[in-house]
Amino acid sequence: MIELSPRQTQAFDVLTEPKHSQISELLYGGGAGGGKSYLGCIWLIYQCANCPDTRWVMGRNTLHTLKETTLNSFFQVAKAGNVRYRYIENKGILFPNGSQILLKDLAYYPSDPEFDELGSLEITGAFVDECNQITEKAWNILSSRIRYKLDEYGLTPKILGTCNPARNWVFSRFYEPFVEKRLDANKMFIQALVDDNPRISKFYVSQLDNLDEMSRERLKKGNWDFLDISGNWVYSYRPELHTGKVELNRSEVVRLSFDFNRNPIACHVSQHYDNHYYGLEQIEIDNCTTYQLCNEIKARYPGCFFNVTGDISGKAATTVSRLQNFDIIKYVLELRDAQMQYSGANPPLAESRMLVNAMLERYPTTFDKVKCAPLLRDFETVKSDNEGRPIKTNRNNIEERADCLDTFRYTMHRWFGDFLKILAS
Ligand SMILES: Nc1ncnc2c1ncn2[C@@H]1O[C@H](COP(=O)(O)OP(=O)(O)O)[C@@H](O)[C@H]1O
Ligand SMILES: [Mg+2]
Repeated sequence: MIELSPRQTQAFDVLTEPKHSQISELLYGGGAGGGKSYLGCIWLIYQCANCPDTRWVMGRNTLHTLKETTLNSFFQVAKAGNVRYRYIENKGILFPNGSQILLKDLAYYPSDPEFDELGSLEITGAFVDECNQITEKAWNILSSRIRYKLDEYGLTPKILGTCNPARNWVFSRFYEPFVEKRLDANKMFIQALVDDNPRISKFYVSQLDNLDEMSRERLKKGNWDFLDISGNWVYSYRPELHTGKVELNRSEVVRLSFDFNRNPIACHVSQHYDNHYYGLEQIEIDNCTTYQLCNEIKARYPGCFFNVTGDISGKAATTVSRLQNFDIIKYVLELRDAQMQYSGANPPLAESRMLVNAMLERYPTTFDKVKCAPLLRDFETVKSDNEGRPIKTNRNNIEERADCLDTFRYTMHRWFGDFLKILAS
């Protein structure tokens, strides 16, 4: 059996009680761990059970994250509630009474700028998890598709979005008017933070305490104003704390993280032992091939044991050679499969920003002041857009290349992802 928290109950009433029929858009959350994904799954299951043959959407920015996060919450909720359903990969969730939940990727793709695929849907209602990650256009189009079997069940159109504080359309459409008490009559915002969730684990709360200060304000305390969004992408770097002289320790693993632009090609060299992170060197070479770079590394780090990660797009065959970049590295450095530790997809950028800043703020970290100079330059110059992504539109401008920063991000995600395990929930 699933019991709702007081905040979830409040939202659930807005979504299901006839007295709230004028509300067509509900935004719930504004922090991490407030029971957002659970609420959405519980609502959809309830509606599907009560209204046979209805059709609902569960959406998120990408289908990939939807499956890794929200769908898992669905499985947990369904298990706890003894719900019968069938999950069909790439189709959705089917219930014995004919109701269904479609899983939708709501990201903007240049190949479908008008969201034509969404535009042809007819649905009964929609739940968009972390709706601050999609565009307002996707939200508008999805809400305009809510009509299927509404009259039959006496329902009114409802779209539920959940979010963390963000400085984009969600802020201007919901949060700002909410605070200024001028929110449209068809919209509502219910704030739910981790402290409003009595069922949260202690482990989860301690992970939130591990965040850097800005992210803690935002995700734990639900502060929308603390965001210095347009500032530096790396905001927790303090030269006096984070730089010094770093020596290679030959008895420890040397970690290499690659970014395969031809101009420049970049590699971050680091070590981690005795609970301390050491940035040894940031290599950045113009007009250099992966071959040449690896030979250079071989010369600079003779006899060292390497582990490798890097840009996953580097897995694509290059124009220069039919061999793949990672294969070249493996071949030139004479590595085994187990030392090649790239996997999955490149990490989401906004998440990456929190991980990088949390590490700098909370984990003992030292970069060699001289040898890591190109990375430290990126720390000081790369700016963030208002979605928490590094701005890199103009490669001619050195501040917008961020290749060295990328190699550091890959290092963090590959070997320090556990530091903020909760980020992808
Ligand atoms: N109604 C509920 N009943 C039981 N556990 C819940 C409920 N709501 C939330 N939880 C617990 O709290 C955790 C966080 O909830 P979740 O919905 O994933 O939060 P959010 O999506 O806001 O980060 C869940 O993993 C689950 O363990
Ligand atoms: Mg969630």
